[in-house]
Amino acid sequence: MSVPEYFVLDNEDRMPRIGFGTWQTSDDVLEKAVDAALKAGYKHIDTARAYENEATLGKALKRWIGDDEDKRKELFIVSKLPPGGNRPELVEEYFQASYNDLGLKYIDMYLMHVPFSFEHVPGDLHPKNPDGSMKVDLTTDIVSTWKAMQKLKDSGKVRHLGVSNMNEEQLKRLCEIAKPECLQVEVHILCQQKPLIAAASSLGIPIVAYSPLGSKALADMLSTKTGREYPSQLDLPAVKEIAEKHGRTPAQILLRYLLQHGVAAIPKSTDPTRIQQNINVWDFELNEAEFNELRSLDQGENGRICDFSFFRGVEKHPEFPFKK
Ligand SMILES: NC(=O)c1ccc[n+]([C@@H]2O[C@H](COP(=O)([O-])OP(=O)(O)OC[C@H]3O[C@@H](n4cnc5c(N)ncnc54)[C@H](OP(=O)(O)O)[C@@H]3O)[C@@H](O)[C@H]2O)c1
Repeated sequence: MSVPEYFVLDNEDRMPRIGFGTWQTSDDVLEKAVDAALKAGYKHIDTARAYENEATLGKALKRWIGDDEDKRKELFIVSKLPPGGNRPELVEEYFQASYNDLGLKYIDMYLMHVPFSFEHVPGDLHPKNPDGSMKVDLTTDIVSTWKAMQKLKDSGKVRHLGVSNMNEEQLKRLCEIAKPECLQVEVHILCQQKPLIAAASSLGIPIVAYSPLGSKALADMLSTKTGREYPSQLDLPAVKEIAEKHGRTPAQILLRYLLQHGVAAIPKSTDPTRIQQNINVWDFELNEAEFNELRSLDQGENGRICDFSFFRGVEKHPEFPFKK
């Protein structure tokens, strides 16, 4: 099954279906990783205000682009409105902080990171109560935030607007104002999001899969906290067997599966060899039997890793998107 290398957006801009993730990467490591990713051919790079690394990414991008406008045009840079900015009167301020740090004339895609919000505490993107729970603001109105985000497009500083971590009902609510141009959600072999992908597809919204390799760092952190075990997706027998047959790495099989599943994917790595391998997924295909075998590994909601339990208290928010 051949897969296009881009999602073509409504104005004909192209969002590459393999992108580079930057979450949980320290500044010194990130700069080198972004250099390696750009050299390896990645054009789509994903960041967020909440990752607290946009200035470092901006530095690496500046070095890569120099004065070459064409080099800038080839890239597709994504950032996200953090939970503290999820209220109409603060959208502009939070966006501007990302915009300044990235140092670009425009950002290609700006996403509402989550449908819940934290209290706005200047200088603290993850404000906590003394008991360690998050300072959650229960009054979030995602429709008002979405309306305020639309105004960013008028400034020319952002070309496309989308959302992340939303469910089908929330997507439909936002579509009444304007269709999100992208939905970024957790998708991998153990949480394949089949109903949500079908719903987004019928609304004409492209899906970008985050944690496409099973987010080892997050899975390890949650496992230590809760005792729950998260199987290593790279070590699943079916994945390893198919990888051997194709002479590919397990990560390449997981990513190729997602492409054939109809979504884009933004794997994160800090290792130049793995960074290169993760984008080399265009010159082989999974056959129908292999695809179906991997499709059957889906655990649905039980396979979800990023349930935001690390933000204690958000599950009580009326817009918390995931239901067991
Ligand atoms: N919108 C949201 O709420 C949200 C949430 C989570 C993530 N994201 C985005 O999605 C991106 C990707 O998700 P993620 O970072 O959670 O996890 P991921 O990409 O599923 O997994 C990253 C892990 O896999 C390892 N890895 C990468 N390539 C590998 C390979 N070829 N072989 C073996 N191991 C490999 C990395 O280690 P090494 O670095 O050592 O290679 C790292 O430990 C994030 O960085 C972020 O940009 C968005």
